[in-house]
Amino acid sequence: MHDEVRALARNQHNGTPPEPVASIVARFRAHQATVGIMGLGYVGLPLACTIARKGFSVLGFDIDASKVDQINAGTSYIGHIASDEIADMRKAGRFAATCDFSRLGEVDAIILCVPTPLTRHREPDLTYVTQTTESIAPYLRRGQLVVLESTTYPGTTRDVLRPILERGGLRSGRDFFLAYSPEREDPGNAQFSTAAIPKVVGGEGPEALQLACALYDEVVSRTVPVTSLEAAEAVKLTENIFRSVNIALANELKTVYEAMGIDVWEVIEAAKSKPFGYMPFYPGPGLGGHCIPIDPFYLTWKAREYGVVTRFIELAGEINTAMPQRVVDRTIEALNERQRKASKGARVLVVGIAYKKNVDDTRESPAFKIIELLEKRGAEVSYYDPIVAEIPPSREHAEFTGRRSVSFGESSISAFDAVVICTDHDSIDYAKLVEWSPLVIDTRNACARGGVSGEHIVKA
Ligand SMILES: NC(=O)c1ccc[n+]([C@@H]2O[C@H](COP(=O)([O-])OP(=O)(O)OC[C@H]3O[C@@H](n4cnc5c(N)ncnc54)[C@H](O)[C@@H]3O)[C@@H](O)[C@H]2O)c1
Repeated sequence: MHDEVRALARNQHNGTPPEPVASIVARFRAHQATVGIMGLGYVGLPLACTIARKGFSVLGFDIDASKVDQINAGTSYIGHIASDEIADMRKAGRFAATCDFSRLGEVDAIILCVPTPLTRHREPDLTYVTQTTESIAPYLRRGQLVVLESTTYPGTTRDVLRPILERGGLRSGRDFFLAYSPEREDPGNAQFSTAAIPKVVGGEGPEALQLACALYDEVVSRTVPVTSLEAAEAVKLTENIFRSVNIALANELKTVYEAMGIDVWEVIEAAKSKPFGYMPFYPGPGLGGHCIPIDPFYLTWKAREYGVVTRFIELAGEINTAMPQRVVDRTIEALNERQRKASKGARVLVVGIAYKKNVDDTRESPAFKIIELLEKRGAEVSYYDPIVAEIPPSREHAEFTGRRSVSFGESSISAFDAVVICTDHDSIDYAKLVEWSPLVIDTRNACARGGVSGEHIVKA
């Protein structure tokens, strides 16, 4: 990589005058910089590919050696990222991965894309962020830009990252530059790739903001600068709280309209013809994924420090987390009424185990909760998912690890008393599913959308 950068890294503390910000900006503008990505997961890997595709050199860092090995071998471990893409970047010499953090001195910018989950007590768990920052600190050198992309509460970059990075004597805004830019990646979204999504950027001081914008300007369609780190952190939470609250509203409306014999999906479809003042959100079996069920509680937690109660956010959380139980109640009711079957001993197939359509990510999937609740009621539950052949390990549902998807065929599907559609992957043949199943519980309106009807389909 860049020899002069290596030399600078060696001279981290020896009194060499710092490189002028204008010269670093020029390197970003000329795509001649090396960018380090910390955390090569669902966010970090697509971001690394996007930056490498723009002509930058990218060095990915991860503590997971298997991910590092796969990248260096030109293979992808994320369903919607093609191995070819990684192999092409490898061939072009623009993308490498390593577990060796001492190589952080080689990069001009360090972007953190590590997880920000909740603890068991539903409080922010910043362990990954602090550990990663601690592993950067010993190698931090003058002139480097450090950007946090992980979703978090306002104040994290300034109050958590900065003190750790300054431990070695370098100062933010003088020696290195600190920024926050929320990740808006939407895995599996064919319409908006990473590069096509505008990026909000906040910096600690004008130079940090200038540098971060200079980098992202070259990578994404548009950067949206805001005046502080905290404003940028709040933007991401605002977006995800907006989704959580609106999904909760759609779930509540589903319950009300169902009691009135009105189809909520028909209502939403018609309502969205209004060209202003309405935006469609859809009901479902509950929230899933790494973001929407988790991020709102980062704000709830931080708000307590200011004596503010986030009632709206918590109410949305309550409504959304009650949905799996509701789906299970409807399933048991339908088994009883339509099949004359008790839940105990009933054979139920959950269709779609990923938390949303067309991805292989099962984190926080409501399908897990639905399986757990059905099994508690004595049902024998299997799953079918065309994208997730085997359930990966998870903290919340470790007991499901290693279970395998049943195959999709008449004999395997017709052996079940009921099918519960949790995730509406496009590749599922809903016509066949309905033809082969005696009872279908559809939580996504997938059958109707696919033009498939039947007396034995129950919307839930
Ligand atoms: N997945 C999404 O769709 C999405 C969208 C927007 C924002 N986000 C946010 O982005 C952040 C990352 O999420 P993700 O889905 O990519 O997580 P992920 O679990 O898929 O990936 C995180 C990666 O970080 C690595 N890692 C953990 N500790 C590390 C360390 N100390 N040093 C280096 N690497 C380390 C892990 O091995 C893993 O490869 C989270 O804050 C999340 O809320 C996620």
